[in-house]
Amino acid sequence: MKIIHTISELQSELSVLKTQGKKVGLVPTMGALHEGHASLVKRCVKENDVAVVSVFVNPTQFNDKNDLLKYPRTPEADYKLLEANGCSIVFAPSVEEMYPEPDTRQFNFAPLDSVMEGAFRPGHFNGVAQIVSKLFDAVKPHRAYFGEKDFQQLAIIREMVKQLQFNIEIIGCPIVREEDGLALSSRNARLSAEEREIALKISQTLFKSRTFAADHSVSETIHFVENEIAAEKGLRLEYFKIVDGDTLQDLKDWADTDYAVGCITVFCGEVRLIDNIKYKGI
Ligand code: PAF
Repeated sequence: MKIIHTISELQSELSVLKTQGKKVGLVPTMGALHEGHASLVKRCVKENDVAVVSVFVNPTQFNDKNDLLKYPRTPEADYKLLEANGCSIVFAPSVEEMYPEPDTRQFNFAPLDSVMEGAFRPGHFNGVAQIVSKLFDAVKPHRAYFGEKDFQQLAIIREMVKQLQFNIEIIGCPIVREEDGLALSSRNARLSAEEREIALKISQTLFKSRTFAADHSVSETIHFVENEIAAEKGLRLEYFKIVDGDTLQDLKDWADTDYAVGCITVFCGEVRLIDNIKYKGI
């Protein structure tokens, strides 16, 4: 496994491999890797000749400076996990390498980016699009892999690929959960043992809501989730929405779509956790 820090070195390495006809897959990450990332890397390794994993904590997608400062950074453990999972190239650039000048590009992914994370984290998806488009330009992969835990991010990246006409296949991979149901997240490392117990209520509520939804309306299901989360003192709900999985707009009636997803963001202490669940569809 090669660890590369500059775009020029990365591109000269990849151009040799591409002229040999090798298919290149990319897994963009911000490090602090866990088994969720490992599942993306494994799939990338399986489906491509060369698996590139980028490790870069992207400052432009953090609207909260404190969140950026506290974002876990574990490069040595990350490299071990990547090596063990068959990664060929780690791309770990500096901020100066990715942003030699401020990126002033403004994307418009309306209406996908005006709801949920887009509404609560202004500028977040613009920053995601800035870095992911730069990574796509640098690597020019055949395929790129993203987790479905960041459900809205995945929809926006698909839209960005359309708008910027990247010839890249975007592959969404299922959420990986702890045995007890908690969705894996780099932010889980910031939970105390007590908070970790409390956070479990998020996925448990989503699972219960799927049973509840079978004979209740969309709005009743939303209230069910809101009440369950409100009943747990250590949690503070930021939002829970049931949306059409393609448009990300609020769903009024189950019959209005064949792809319904519930998306939740909850603060557990200071840690902001997101999760989602499918009620209808793939
Ligand atoms: O999902 C993430 O970890 C980040 O948003 C991404 C896609 C690596 C861009 O920085």
